[in-house]
Amino acid sequence: MTRIGLPWISLARSVAGMHTTPRKVAVLVGSLRAGSFSRMAAKALAGLAPGLELEIVEIGELPLYNQDKDGADAPPSYNVFRDHVKAMDAVLFVTPEYNRSLPAVLKNAIDVGSRPYGHSVWSGKPGAVMSISPGAIGGFGANHHLRQCLVFLNVPAMQQPEAYIGGAATLFDADGALVNDGTRKFFATFMTAFAAWIEANTPARSQ
Ligand code: FNR
Repeated sequence: MTRIGLPWISLARSVAGMHTTPRKVAVLVGSLRAGSFSRMAAKALAGLAPGLELEIVEIGELPLYNQDKDGADAPPSYNVFRDHVKAMDAVLFVTPEYNRSLPAVLKNAIDVGSRPYGHSVWSGKPGAVMSISPGAIGGFGANHHLRQCLVFLNVPAMQQPEAYIGGAATLFDADGALVNDGTRKFFATFMTAFAAWIEANTPARSQ
């Protein structure tokens, strides 16, 4: 069985007033491109996430969903993916926009995780969405089409701050690090709000 949950990006910081065990956040990146701005953004967010441990769950090897090939016949990668997401406390989507919607690779992963019927890995998991584009609109269409799925999937999705990141080609250096303080500050604000959102939308547990 091929493990598709690759590589780790993690940061576990305790913040005053928060639980001591970091919440584990599955990060789904909606681009498979080697030089993806979305992946750069995901990695930058991981370094600005108080009390959270972010892990990119890879989605590129999931076969296109076919209901006839699920259940006992499911591709092994489906179950690896589902188990991986199930084990996480929350989910963060970082995605480009394709034709004013979410990329097919991300929708496919969402569909895979939603089945078999009654066994969705998404239900009740606190979520957040960041869309990113070299264009000025910042992937607004992808962001909201994705949010439409999340309503149906019973993912409590953080409302504010919204994150439509435009001008992506100007935001990162050659190593993928953020180049300006304004974006860094916004990313930190976004993740701080998400950490609070996860706490507010997670049933009480022992520390
Ligand atoms: C795009 N791109 C794009 N950009 C945008 O702002 N709105 C859009 O609707 C689209 N549509 C679109 C469709 C397809 C098929 C491709 C390949 C690209 C451009 C896109 O934002 C750009 O390629 C990003 O760099 C893709 O994100 P990553 O791969 O850098 O994360």
